[in-house]
Amino acid sequence: MIKLKINGTEREIDADEDTPLLWALRDEFDMTGTKFGCGVGLCGACTVHLDGVAVRGCQTAIGDVGASEVTTIEGIAGKAAEAVKAAWVDLQVPQCGYCQSGQIMSATALLTDNPKPSDDDIVTAMDGNACRCATYVRIHAAVKRASE
Ligand code: FES
Repeated sequence: MIKLKINGTEREIDADEDTPLLWALRDEFDMTGTKFGCGVGLCGACTVHLDGVAVRGCQTAIGDVGASEVTTIEGIAGKAAEAVKAAWVDLQVPQCGYCQSGQIMSATALLTDNPKPSDDDIVTAMDGNACRCATYVRIHAAVKRASE
């Protein structure tokens, strides 16, 4: 049995320690806001936070999480998260929406760590999150808006 702390709640899962956190979240805990895109760490759709740091859920084994706090799109909160979510709505960022929870997780991790990012900081931080609808201009603008 592996213990995980997810969105402030202690959870247990009876699964192999190599199980990707993404699948534990989706299949065991019904937290389907974290998406599967590529499964190999390239697209960012599965982005969650471990102690506030953006990580790939598909590349994070549940056995490696330890005592770190897992935060998903369902549990994200705080000043940076609220600013990001408001900016996403104001600027109507999503198109199909599939990648957007991962985008929001990366943007929130950036603004928590660096509340006044430069344009280059935003590009670098968001570089690992792909969007097949190419909403990149709106994503960049929304991160900027959230930092104001
Ligand atoms: Fe994890 Fe694409 S599903 S990075």
